[in-house]
Amino acid sequence: MKNILITGGAGFIGSHLVRLMVNKYPQYNIINLDKLTYAGNLENLKDIESYTNYQFVKGDICDYEFVMNLFREKSIDGVIHLAAESHVDRSIKDPFSFANTNVLGTLSLLQAAKNYWGESGREGFKGKLFYHVSTDEVYGSLEQDGTFFTEDTKYDPHSPYSASKAASDHFVRAYFDTYGLPIVISNCSNNYGSYQFPEKLIPLFINNICNNKPLPVYGKGENVRDWLYVEDHAIAIDLIFHKGKNGDTYNIGGFNEWRNIDLIKVMIKTVDRLLGRPEGSSETLITYVTDRAGHDLRYAIDSTKLHKELGWSPSLQFEEGIERTVAWYLNNKEWLNRVTSGDYQRYYEEMYKE
Ligand code: NAD
Ligand code: DAU
Repeated sequence: MKNILITGGAGFIGSHLVRLMVNKYPQYNIINLDKLTYAGNLENLKDIESYTNYQFVKGDICDYEFVMNLFREKSIDGVIHLAAESHVDRSIKDPFSFANTNVLGTLSLLQAAKNYWGESGREGFKGKLFYHVSTDEVYGSLEQDGTFFTEDTKYDPHSPYSASKAASDHFVRAYFDTYGLPIVISNCSNNYGSYQFPEKLIPLFINNICNNKPLPVYGKGENVRDWLYVEDHAIAIDLIFHKGKNGDTYNIGGFNEWRNIDLIKVMIKTVDRLLGRPEGSSETLITYVTDRAGHDLRYAIDSTKLHKELGWSPSLQFEEGIERTVAWYLNNKEWLNRVTSGDYQRYYEEMYKE
């Protein structure tokens, strides 16, 4: 494969994946297609933007004609699809944009892949791959009972976000079953690390602790999430893209469950220590607020299949990952300030004016 289309490459996980791929595969052309919504930030890719095997294209995955032309123009051989609306709280306020991007956008990419690769019949699918990056939230919510999501867990999404991701997963499988399009899907747990938009729990809270702002804990803070360092997710995607079995699904997770309130206390301790404040003094910022509607109690991924079949394991212990992450946000205040002030968008809006 030569020309790889990565969608959503200016976002959090996408930018880590693009960085990994352009560095690791000089023989590939990596084409990053991104609409640059509020969550897309080309400043995440400054270090690799001038690489000769990297190209950025601004565009909307929902625009089928545009996507089809891009497949033709760039002779796309493989797709790794990450572009999405990704924040649960936004999906509660504006479900339509989630259905639009996550469902119809995925459909538009599938249709373009099928039509472009299938121009010479099913033979044209040989050596091609459509990789859909999804989430563990499609499986719904677990009790506090030590059970895990496996690849066979029944879909049971609760939020408009997870419903839209579940629908997109179904479309991807439908293209495999109906047209024979080569596909693979992965469902990953919560990611953390550098370049995450500060609306999600970890970067939002690090930023708020630094600025002595309240930390809005939903409900009692007892919900459990399974946290994976973002670079380990990117490594898993690379592995599945190259070695995954056609038509298969892989769960990705680090067996690393944390109650929100316990994780928040770890973040407080770490930020306080790194800022030279009395350790734990920022706990007074914890503010319990009204719970998120339909708040899933617990996510926990069983990634045994990925470990056994493809040999993947997370490379980093959580203690080291969270230390690195907190340190990154403290050392990259300029990035945080440009994101929270909106300056990052104004700069690139000017550059990519239509
Ligand atoms: P993100 O919100 O940080 O980035 C999404 C990117 O998609 C942005 O760059 C945005 O500009 C782009 N985008 C949005 N709509 C688009 C459109 N219509 N056309 C082209 N580009 C568009 O998201 P993320 O957290 O990096 O997540 C990436 C993918 O991984 C998503 O599909 C998400 O569902 C999935 N995922 C995320 C997590 C997580 O913890 N963040 C965990 C598992 C799976
Ligand atoms: O599990 C994978 C999913 O993880 C991804 O598919 C999503 O794209 C990603 O956003 C994430 O979803 P969550 O809803 O789990 O992540 P978020 O960071 O929004 O919230 C994590 C937990 O923290 C959740 O239980 C809600 C809680 N929370 C979140 C915020 C933003 C708070 O208590 N207060 C907050 O202000």
